[in-house]
Amino acid sequence: MKKSVILAFIFMLMFGCGGSAEKATTIQKPAATAEFITEGVPQEVIQKGNEAANKLQTALKTQLVAAIQENGLKGALDFCSENAQKLTNEVNLSYQGTVSIKRTTLRFRNEQNKPDKFEESALQRIQKSMADGGTPPDSLVQKITQNGNVKYRYYKPLLVGVSCLGCHGDEKKMKPEVLENIRRTYPNGTATGYKKGDLRGVVRVEMQTTTSTSDI
Ligand code: HEC
Repeated sequence: MKKSVILAFIFMLMFGCGGSAEKATTIQKPAATAEFITEGVPQEVIQKGNEAANKLQTALKTQLVAAIQENGLKGALDFCSENAQKLTNEVNLSYQGTVSIKRTTLRFRNEQNKPDKFEESALQRIQKSMADGGTPPDSLVQKITQNGNVKYRYYKPLLVGVSCLGCHGDEKKMKPEVLENIRRTYPNGTATGYKKGDLRGVVRVEMQTTTSTSDI
């Protein structure tokens, strides 16, 4: 944790916040474009994407269940607040930087899980396929191209189960102490009011294939 803060600080010193120092001297890259693909998806994207997404979900679920058993829902809430981002970073580290994993959603509790425009379009696409009466796809793959470089995003839908409702369900049915804690920790959060079976969000795994040398 400390190390990453120091690294981030050095990075900021070197490149300036938001990379403005770099922009001043180099020609800006053309905007990235994204498309959903169903054909020609590299096997590696499916395999690695699925594996990394499951790894994160299993870690979160196992530890969440243990935390609920040990400390009740309110204690588990503290566990989620303190550890969800940490566990996500640990999965990233276990791939030595070859994937970038994130949980994201249209209604987020933590600002760090806010979707970018390509993630938003993936979430909307899954939401729409569910609204049209279908079930969500097992996964969705998006190909992002910028300046001839290609990277892929693998999305795995996360549905709301009964076990999620205590912290993401109808506020009127939530325990007052849990709701109060959520409102205090995430004053701008909008991640309640879900029903069983709703789309809660996705796990997004971003990667380049070994055949690509892009750095976007
Ligand atoms: C004990 C309370 C609790 C339970 C139960 C719970 N969550 Fe959460 N959830 C949280 C908290 C707290 C966060 C914010 C974590 C963070 O800071 O990244 C969160 C964040 C998330 C996010 C990230 C997006 C966002 O809103 O910031 C997803 C996706 C998510 N939860 C899905 C689920 C699903 C699916 C279940 C059921 C399997 C579930 N949660 C059960 C407390 C809970």
